[in-house]
This record gives sequence, C-alpha cells and structure tokens, in this order.
Amino acid sequence: MKKKIAIGSDHAGFALKEQIKKWLEKEGYSVRDFGCFSAESCDYPDFAEKVAKEVAKDRNTIGILFCGTGIGMCIAANKIKGIHAALIHNEFTGKSAKEHNNANIICLGARVINFATAKKAISTFLNAEFQGGRHSRRVKKIERIEKNV
Ligand code: RB5
Repeated sequence: MKKKIAIGSDHAGFALKEQIKKWLEKEGYSVRDFGCFSAESCDYPDFAEKVAKEVAKDRNTIGILFCGTGIGMCIAANKIKGIHAALIHNEFTGKSAKEHNNANIICLGARVINFATAKKAISTFLNAEFQGGRHSRRVKKIERIEKNV
C-alpha cells in the first residue's frame, strides 16, 4: 500500500509545495496539505508542528516539509516525539534518509533546489527501503536519547 503523505510549507516553500503536491497526486499518492495556503509571510514552526503531529500519530503517513532552506522545518519537526526528520537536497541524501536514517519526514529548501531536483530527491526517498542492521542499532540509539534513558 502506498504511504499517505502529509505536506506543509511556509511562504518560502509554498510554490514548490504546490508543484510537488500536484505531481505526487498524479503519481497516485494520497496527499493531505497542512498549509500554508498562500505566499504571504508566515512562520515555518506552525506548519512543521502540524505535519509532524500527523506523522507521529499515523505510521502509514510520511511528511514532506518545505521552507527556504529546509533547515527550520527540520529543526522544528524533530521536536515532536517519534519524528526523524531529515534535510535532503538530492537523490543521494533522499536515498540515505530512508536507507540509513529511516526518516519519517523529509525537509527541502525551495531556495536551494529546483522542482526537478526536488522530484528526484523525493522519489528516491519514497522508493527506498530502510536497510536495518547496523543502521537499526544507530536509529535505536537516537530513540534512546529521545526517551532520556
Ligand atoms: C524564511 O525567510 C526562511 O527563514 C525560512 O523559510 C527557512 O529557510 C527557515 O529555516
């Protein structure tokens, strides 16, 4: 079953989010848009929080966040328990975010990469598999830090 996708952006990521949303829907994904809904200036943590909370409560949903650099969205999303948000820029980081980090949210910078590169990075992430093994041990260590034990 194809994963559901929760998507969000601030004003800087809005145009790229709209392009990616249309493309993902064409590819057959079910996409839920958590805003923003215009290019008017707004604050990225508001949308990172909404998408991250949705992903944290539903294992079958992955999140895609866009801001100018992807950095602010990534920092904010990682504050929600259970979220492993990764900043990706290209096919290599998209693939690694899944294979090594088992990320459940990816963040992209609309002022860093264009639509074509974003499509390739996202598609590589969506089609990759977590590799487990040594990567599992490392991801579990991150989870242990989160639990503070
Ligand atoms: C907005 O100007 C910009 O700071 C924001 O989109 C993002 O890049 C923050 O990390």
